[in-house]
This record gives sequence, C-alpha cells and structure tokens, in this order.
Amino acid sequence: MLTVGEAIQQRRSIRKFLDKPVSREMIDEILEAARLAPSASNRQPWRFIVVTDPEERAKLRRICWDQAFIEQAPVVFVCCADLIAYSQPSRLKRSQEFIDYGVTKTLSGRFADPEFRAALLKMPDPDLSVFVAPAVANTYIAIEHMVLTATALGLGSCWVGALGEEGEINVLFNLPKTLVVVAVLPVGYPVATPPPRPRVSLSEILLRPLEAVVK
Ligand SMILES: Cc1cc2nc3c(=O)[nH]c(=O)nc-3n(C[C@H](O)[C@H](O)[C@H](O)COP(=O)(O)O)c2cc1C
Repeated sequence: MLTVGEAIQQRRSIRKFLDKPVSREMIDEILEAARLAPSASNRQPWRFIVVTDPEERAKLRRICWDQAFIEQAPVVFVCCADLIAYSQPSRLKRSQEFIDYGVTKTLSGRFADPEFRAALLKMPDPDLSVFVAPAVANTYIAIEHMVLTATALGLGSCWVGALGEEGEINVLFNLPKTLVVVAVLPVGYPVATPPPRPRVSLSEILLRPLEAVVK
C-alpha cells in the first residue's frame, strides 16, 4: 500500500478500467476511509450506495452525461450528503461532545453564555436546504479520502460531478430529497496511468510570497 504522499503524487483521474472485479476487502477499506473523515461539528453527513450491478451502472452512466467509464468501472460509489445530519436532534447530540470535552469552557463572546447556547440549540430547524453547502463540503472530504485510499490500493477512480438533472439519481435509488447526491465515484483497476495533468504554479496559489514569512 502506498503512503499518503505517494498516493497524492500518483493519483490521476482514471477513465478506463480493466474488466476485473474489486474485492470486498478493498471496498471495505475505501468505505472505512470515508467513515473516518473529519467533519464540522462531527456531523458525518456522508452516505453511500455501492453499485456493482451492470444494469444500475448503465443507468448511472446515462444519467451522468453518458460518461462511458461509469458503466465500465466494476464498482461505483454514489456519494450523498444527508441533510438530516444537521437537524435539531443531531445538533443537540453533537453539542454534547463539545460540552464533554470542555470546549464550551474556552468559548468567548456570546457563545460563552450558557443561556445563549441553550436558546440557540432550542431554535427550530430552518429549511434544511440551508445546510446543503456544509453537507456537501463535508462529504467532499470523505470522498477524497476514498479517492486516495483507492490509489493507495492500486486502484483508479474519477470524481464525477456531472450528475444529470437534479433528483434523477434520487429517483433511480428511491432516495428522499433530504439526501443530496454529491458525486459519483467509479473505481476499478486502471488500464493505464496517464501522465499528470497540469497544475498552476505555487506562486499562483500563494496570495503572499512564502519568502515574506518563512526563512
Ligand atoms: C468535483 C469534481 C467533479 C468532477 N467531475 C468530473 C466528471 O463529471 N467527469 C470527468 O471525466 N471528470 C470529472 N472530474 C475530474 C477532473 O476533470 C480532474 O480531477 C481534473 O481534470 C484534474 O485531473 P487529475 O484528477 O487527473 O489530476 C471532476 C473532479 C472533481 C474534483
């Protein structure tokens, strides 16, 4: 198995897969990598459907802009964010963790006031759609854990964000609207590893030159 650094260096988006199944152990390992991902307030909104059935893969391919590699991959993870993870009961459960670990004692400003916090936690749920952005952001972290784990196991994958019309995948798998499909991740043995795709330079992504802060 590769180290994290090696997996980051060697990962590519793979769009051609061998006709070779991925073992149950590897699927377990990829899902475990997702399960262990960090999330804001530890809400863990990620949910998955593991797809191996050729007919379901073909349907997913058609929905996702007819991208052939989705059908070709022996296993496809449909990655969802559960908005229920942000609901009132879940909020109460998670806040207990902060209390147990003494985090609330170090809070300052209004959040230091127990009455303010209690009132905040009693507030009714707003429309759950306001939680889409954080739910998606946190699920993305889990998906990249899966991508890097697949690479470390010698597998290839490709993020798919082209998910067809809104709700189409929900209909395919009979999912409620509170489950937002975030990405589809086909995984399999790569036919070949393509050369690295271009990246912008370090100086372009640094908003302040490194030399100004590090000797
Ligand atoms: C959120 C997201 C959505 C993407 N959606 C697609 C997609 O629908 N189809 C596809 O072929 N590649 C998709 N990609 C892969 C990117 O095109 C790819 O990561 C990028 O070109 C860099 O290439 P590399 O991954 O090999 O480094 C997606 C990547 C991300 C992160």
